[in-house]
Amino acid sequence: MALKLNSFISQSHQLPSLAFPPIASLRSPKFYTASTLKSGSKEVQNLKKPFMPRREVHVQVTHSMPAHKIEIFKSLEDWVGQNILVHLNPVEKCWQPQDFLPDPASDGFEEQVKELRERAKEIPDDCLVVLVGDMITEEAVPTYQTMLNTMDGVRDETGASLTPWAIWTREWTAEENRHGDLLNKYLYLSGRVDMRQIEKTIQYLIGSGMDPQMENSPYHGFIYTSFQERATFISHGNTARLAKEHGDIKLAQICGTIASDEKRHETAYTKTVEKLFEIDPDETVMAFADMMRKKISMPAHLMYDGHDDNLFDHFSAVAQRLGVYTAKDYADILEFLVGRWKVDKLTGLSAEGQKAQDYVCRLPPRIRRLEERAQVRAKEAATIPFSWIFDRKVKL
Ligand SMILES: [Fe+2]
Ligand SMILES: [Fe+2]
Repeated sequence: MALKLNSFISQSHQLPSLAFPPIASLRSPKFYTASTLKSGSKEVQNLKKPFMPRREVHVQVTHSMPAHKIEIFKSLEDWVGQNILVHLNPVEKCWQPQDFLPDPASDGFEEQVKELRERAKEIPDDCLVVLVGDMITEEAVPTYQTMLNTMDGVRDETGASLTPWAIWTREWTAEENRHGDLLNKYLYLSGRVDMRQIEKTIQYLIGSGMDPQMENSPYHGFIYTSFQERATFISHGNTARLAKEHGDIKLAQICGTIASDEKRHETAYTKTVEKLFEIDPDETVMAFADMMRKKISMPAHLMYDGHDDNLFDHFSAVAQRLGVYTAKDYADILEFLVGRWKVDKLTGLSAEGQKAQDYVCRLPPRIRRLEERAQVRAKEAATIPFSWIFDRKVKL
């Protein structure tokens, strides 16, 4: 099947690359939507339209998976029904945000809110920034459901399709939806953050979408989701640790509970890719290498609050400094996945498959070396205001 290039968004303007280490420096070329251009430029007047996403997106390769590969995913439906759907929890057994929040229907509501606010007073601003960034990332769940439904062979064709792939996508989304909901309500009640700015950021982010370059291929897509679920498991786990250190045990419990959902989702997605390695190792290893060459972009990389053109970079820098999600984590996740899927032990690959295998297996130490060099070069960190916390300044 021929590749289609959607180049309608191409611009020659390059903004400084994203700073999320070490991925940014390795990313493939990016292209910018009109609204990323500085106002006042002539091009802006020609191109600017309301509601266009503000951030850069790549030229997209679409529908790269040939028809006979789509059949593989159709043939896996029963397997998904038996092996993947079991990783979803029944609604009646799921935790709900209300389990962790003051009950507005109870007499003790005001007292519980007071206690929550007392505990939240001790959380430093840099932790708040990371929590808000995590919450905003979770709140963009409509985008992630959309992404899953861009994939050929597994998409929910009707919105209520009964194929196991479609059931997974909807129920996974429904589980994820609780994450943003809980963090949002908690941060609202804490009184520590500027909710209007946060709400604007969520609206901008959902309006902008995301750009993980999955080519409508579930080979690419499930490698991406495997990586991302593990990344969120790590980052929510680290935020739980920070909350505990600052004495907010309830918040630690909230972040830990969300982390355990992410872990369960990671298990399902890595199991799916393990199956793909079993039945189609060549295509799967090539997709793995392709995603790593493009770098795994974070789900909220297009975030914007109406003020800070580099908001995601700044949020990421704070997360890196606090050890919530770091360049080392990126290399560790990759190394974990290589081991999980036994990529180094694959045999009978084509020449191209062997090249991909070699690339992926050698990448984690390469990323670590690049990161070490970047740290040596790192300058004194700047301190910048975050609108999410009433423009209080935080060190990057
Ligand atoms: Fe989540
Ligand atoms: Fe997740």
